Amino acid sequence: MLALRLIERKRDGGRIEPGEWRAFANAYATGHVPDYQMAAFLMACFIRGLDRGETSALTEAMLRSGSALDLAYLHRPRIDKHSTGGVGDKVSLVLAPLIASLGVAVPMMSGRGLGHTGGTLDKLEAIPGFESTITLEAARRLLETSNCALFGQTAEIAPADRRMYALRDATGTVESIPLIAASIMSKKLAEGLTGLVLDVKRGSGAFLPDLARGLELARTMIDLGADYACPVVALITAMDRPLGRACGNALETEEAIHALRGEGPADLMEVTYALGAEMLVLANVAKDREEARELMERAIGTGRAAEHFQRIIEGQGGNPAVVDDPSIMPQAAEVEIFAAPRRGFIARVEPRTIGRGIAALGGGRVTMDDVLDLSVGFVITARPGDWAEEGEPLATIFARDRAGVSSGRATLRSAITLADEADPPLPLVSHRVSASGIEVLAVS
Ligand code: URA
Repeated sequence: MLALRLIERKRDGGRIEPGEWRAFANAYATGHVPDYQMAAFLMACFIRGLDRGETSALTEAMLRSGSALDLAYLHRPRIDKHSTGGVGDKVSLVLAPLIASLGVAVPMMSGRGLGHTGGTLDKLEAIPGFESTITLEAARRLLETSNCALFGQTAEIAPADRRMYALRDATGTVESIPLIAASIMSKKLAEGLTGLVLDVKRGSGAFLPDLARGLELARTMIDLGADYACPVVALITAMDRPLGRACGNALETEEAIHALRGEGPADLMEVTYALGAEMLVLANVAKDREEARELMERAIGTGRAAEHFQRIIEGQGGNPAVVDDPSIMPQAAEVEIFAAPRRGFIARVEPRTIGRGIAALGGGRVTMDDVLDLSVGFVITARPGDWAEEGEPLATIFARDRAGVSSGRATLRSAITLADEADPPLPLVSHRVSASGIEVLAVS
């Protein structure tokens, strides 16, 4: 009866009270509300929207449907970074060990790739033996010993969100700002954080391509963090082209290892340092962003960050030798260069096309049950705005067979546009959003 009453009220534009959100989320998490009623309710929420109080009550209800990490006894700052997802985005793999090596606890709960975007857990699982399906208790022990745990959402964490997100994915109700904000923040707040940094992507490859919607999502999550005394800072970063060069699971992990050894591509390092600086300032490890950057550059330059990654990998059952020899990760059977079909400026490297192309190679998911080939993907050296001569190498295709190479070629032909002129790409880091407001860092 409760379910039907709430569906009808939301459908007619009414408001759901905090106690009702709690009762409904718990009933759903424990199997007392059927999927068809929750689906109808979520569609009503999608169309009618939620006000600030309702978004906060939904977050609280989902958070309280499960357990949370209580890490206060560590007496260390606990900061995570969350990205709204993109193509080639391996920043978490660089940032987690880098920031943990500087004395900050990083409980990083991540997801798997779905659709055109990749997921941190899939990238980590390219490391032989790496175990990301761990309990909250195991995560707590890893945080004690290595300041970092890299893990997936377990059944213990926000189970109501876990089921609702899967249902939203199948019912066209994902792209709602209050539903996204409550879903992400219910999981992040379960990590027992003292601060959170958000990487909100904008541009054609982003989950919410439009800048105004990205800013609204950032502001909503900042407000939700404030309810729990968890300061949140968001950076708006570009996803109108892939980040870095490697796109595909093992290839991205390899690029992240290069970044930790001081050989990362400039765009990847710029986004990593910008987000890392916010983490270190929130943690009070650095007094400002300049000092934070110096600390990070030194941790990379001295090898401390790469060594710390080895420690984290070992703690989670993986082979730490990967940091010295990334070739122990799955390797594609077929490797082929893709050359420029004509001369001209690189006008576009379309991230959605690349992401879907990885899935076509077997390296991305169409449904949550798909088993991935972690070796496949692309390394794209062509950057928007570059000039290329006909026949010049623009990218490399990594495939499991010749059919994959043909599919990869077709992907790159449609993703990379050569033209006589090219518009400038979006600035890599364009806005900073915090409880004090929006700061424009670069104009597009
Ligand atoms: N990621 C989440 O965890 N939840 C959403 O609703 C969207 C993206």
